Amino acid sequence: MTAELHSRRAVLAATGATAATVTLAACGSDDSGQAAPKPGGKVIALAEVPVGQAKSAKTPDGQNVIVAQPAAGSVSCFSAVCTHQGCTVNPPANGQVHCACHGSIFDALTGAVVNGPASEPLAKVTVKVENGEVVTG
Ligand code: FES
Repeated sequence: MTAELHSRRAVLAATGATAATVTLAACGSDDSGQAAPKPGGKVIALAEVPVGQAKSAKTPDGQNVIVAQPAAGSVSCFSAVCTHQGCTVNPPANGQVHCACHGSIFDALTGAVVNGPASEPLAKVTVKVENGEVVTG
């Protein structure tokens, strides 16, 4: 058995899930100006996103996103396009997402603005979890 399979089982056990498919949180539509990612595309394995943290990822159609798991079994996803003037934000670190262009800071778990000049949160992207994979849709 692979380490990845062990990891997935650990995640499923931690969430109390036993079914092959686990559907978790879904965000609202992506209002970043990007086209909404095509539904059903793999973004990242849930096991790659530690509980209480967030990771950078790409949708299958190449959109940069931030995927967070604020609590075991709960995922959220945000566009990595800064809402100030459209730069791509840096990968999450220490619970925050920084934009190098003008210094905006966002909460890595919620996408909320922590510090401007951005005044709007990172745009939500609809995701769900299927068979241990975070997928668009
Ligand atoms: S584009 Fe991100 S802070 Fe200006």
